[in-house]
Amino acid sequence: MAFETPALPYAYNALEPAIDELTMQVHHDKHHVGYTTNLNNAVKGTEFENWDVVKILQNLSKVPESSRAAVRNNGGGHYNHTLFWQMMGPHKGGQPSGKLLDAVNAAFGSFDKFKEKFTQTATTRFGSGWAWLVVKKDKKLDVYSLPNQDNPVSEGDTPILGIDVWEHAYYLKYQNRRAEYIGNFYNVINWDTVAALYSKAQ
Ligand SMILES: [Fe+2]
Repeated sequence: MAFETPALPYAYNALEPAIDELTMQVHHDKHHVGYTTNLNNAVKGTEFENWDVVKILQNLSKVPESSRAAVRNNGGGHYNHTLFWQMMGPHKGGQPSGKLLDAVNAAFGSFDKFKEKFTQTATTRFGSGWAWLVVKKDKKLDVYSLPNQDNPVSEGDTPILGIDVWEHAYYLKYQNRRAEYIGNFYNVINWDTVAALYSKAQ
């Protein structure tokens, strides 16, 4: 069964003004679809065709060297974007509550301190990549950035929030103003999704 790009769970313009309609259209229909297509081509006729994408990303060393880079980049691209669409939503933002807020406070001191670290991490990612909030193996939260389409599952961690800082994620509206895009991203974070991913990782 081939990998498929999931439909956006909201309209292309639903995240306006934080993320504009054209960016969402191109990002989902061209970039994400491209990663999915290339992943399917890279695993065609191999056992990995039937693996879950997370299992593939956790076992990249098992992928033959000849296709490993393609599987890593496009498998990561497919999974990262699948997460990303769910991690945002219209009329969202605000802050986490309950156990997730407790964990944020324990790891970073406060929600504002978390935001500071996440913003700094995303802003300073050199070139293309993502900033991630993850649950580590010891169940504690951490924030770090990874290059390209690498996903924290390949590091043994579980991503619960990520921001795409590839230029394709913001350039049409923000040009070089990555910091402004990151600032507005907080208005569309779907903390319900983040909380669900956090509790699944416990
Ligand atoms: Fe992207």
